[in-house]
Amino acid sequence: MASVPSLASTVQQRLADALSAALPEAGTADPLLRRSDRADFQANGILALAKKLKGNPRELATQVVTALNSGSAAGTGDGDVVKDIEVSGPGFLNITITDRAITETLAARAADDRLGVPYAADAGTTVIDYAQPNVAKEMHVGHLRSAVIGDAMVQILEFAGEKVVRRHHIGDWGTQFGMLIQYLIEHPHELDHKDGVSGEEAMSNLNRLYKAARAVFDSDEEFKARSRDRVVQLQSGDEETLALWQKFVDESKIYFYSVFEKLDMEIRDPDVVGESGYNDMLDETCRILEESGVAVRSEGALCVFFDDVKGPDGNPVPLIVKKSNGGYGYAATDLSAIRNRVQSLDANTLLYVVDARQSLHFKMVFETARRAGWLNDKVKAHQLAFGTVLGKDGKPFKTREGETVRLVDLLDEAIDRATSVVREKAEKVGLSEQEIVENGRYVGIGAVKYADLSTSAVRDYKFDLDQMVSLNGDTSVYLQYAYARIQSIKRKAGERRPVAHAELPLAPAERALGLHLDQFGEVLAEVASSYEPHKLAAYLYQLASHLTTFYDQCHVLSDDNAPEVVENRLFLVDLTGRTLHQGMALLGIRTPERL
Ligand code: ARG
Repeated sequence: MASVPSLASTVQQRLADALSAALPEAGTADPLLRRSDRADFQANGILALAKKLKGNPRELATQVVTALNSGSAAGTGDGDVVKDIEVSGPGFLNITITDRAITETLAARAADDRLGVPYAADAGTTVIDYAQPNVAKEMHVGHLRSAVIGDAMVQILEFAGEKVVRRHHIGDWGTQFGMLIQYLIEHPHELDHKDGVSGEEAMSNLNRLYKAARAVFDSDEEFKARSRDRVVQLQSGDEETLALWQKFVDESKIYFYSVFEKLDMEIRDPDVVGESGYNDMLDETCRILEESGVAVRSEGALCVFFDDVKGPDGNPVPLIVKKSNGGYGYAATDLSAIRNRVQSLDANTLLYVVDARQSLHFKMVFETARRAGWLNDKVKAHQLAFGTVLGKDGKPFKTREGETVRLVDLLDEAIDRATSVVREKAEKVGLSEQEIVENGRYVGIGAVKYADLSTSAVRDYKFDLDQMVSLNGDTSVYLQYAYARIQSIKRKAGERRPVAHAELPLAPAERALGLHLDQFGEVLAEVASSYEPHKLAAYLYQLASHLTTFYDQCHVLSDDNAPEVVENRLFLVDLTGRTLHQGMALLGIRTPERL
């Protein structure tokens, strides 16, 4: 009898082991297993191996088949994984797995809290820069994308065993604060309020102040001059100025946190280290860059040049680390942040979830950091770049009046729509008003997150609420209903429990569901290393689709079933539910028990 597979092993891994055992020459060569339509798996690795060993691929493939059929692979303790194996084409192997191996492997993984998903072997420390709105400004859909994608990556990486340090690089510094602070000095009490101001009130206070300050700034030259002096005061650390600046930051944070809460997302205060957090490092960063020759003086500014970055006129476009007037910009701050993250936070990986329109900036910043030695083979930086959010019409997302859409309005609308979808079915399910409201929120926010996460991040995507809350198709609601249906079956099962019965033959829909469940760990590992959460979304959608086919073809609780069949089907349903729940949680999406 086969030994019990280790918790982390999957059918696919067991098959890979059996294949290597059947062909000792293969050593550690990858059998290149792929799921296949013709059999369960196809192994493509023989071709490369034959080339390496200078052998004939079909002969090698035949050798594997013979070895497996004669049972010699049973020596690995895993001779009963393969039910059928045949050579096809120039040396591919088509492999069918035994039903027993499927059920038995899933059962071992079901016994594990982590569903058998192993920790990454090479875990390190990733500093992830995401959810970075700007102080005294409204958050927009771009900030939404960074927050949603970033939060999912945090969960996925942590689940893989990576140490994750979160950094919210908020825009809390710059010349615009001179004008705001000066206005506040001349109009005190504008930001005075008792505690307990709501996020929306905070933002509308800031908006009002911004508009008022701007109006004076544009019409009054003397105010403009006073504002400029105020920037200098701010930069030199004048206490009164800093205290007022802090008021703007605090007011903005009330607003940011209210949006993140609406998004059902945990953002912790110590992780909010905005641009201002690196002020003390800017001088030194520039000095190091200049002394090492990485940056050079050009027209009074301190610049870094790149062979492959040129403007339309063919002239090189440098990264400016220090302006000719002595001011520091966005780049000096990002370079200082890299030093901090590598040298003080011990990062091996720096991940930036930022709009693709900033890709040139990051390309230049990363290259500069490489030249300075802050990034190297052991410390890597990567921009998880995302595309633009478009309206239904395919144009950049604007209101009918042509204004940028307020994020809060969008989220509220998503929740409203989702609540009516939930309400329609509520009576049948027996939901209380409180549950309707709560589920409406989970479904609405889930819909927004899922729409964002289910397309490849670099692609622009259409923000279409009708599509997002649709019950059919690749939406979070579809997945949430699949989960709720599972819970309802489990409730109806009453005394009957999920139990795996490896001796039972499986129907085609059960095998398909089982083999898909088998791939969860592998998909997660891939998503964690490629930073592509949309692949997890796609996996979960397929899982729900397999479940739907399974329901159609295999009745779970039917009285016609033998008790073991009911138990085994409940086992598959239960494991599917746990996998859906875990996968959705990693995407930041809730799965209500009843919907
Ligand atoms: N605050 C910036 C914006 O709204 C995004 C910051 C991205 N992160 C960074 N380290 N530059 O566009």
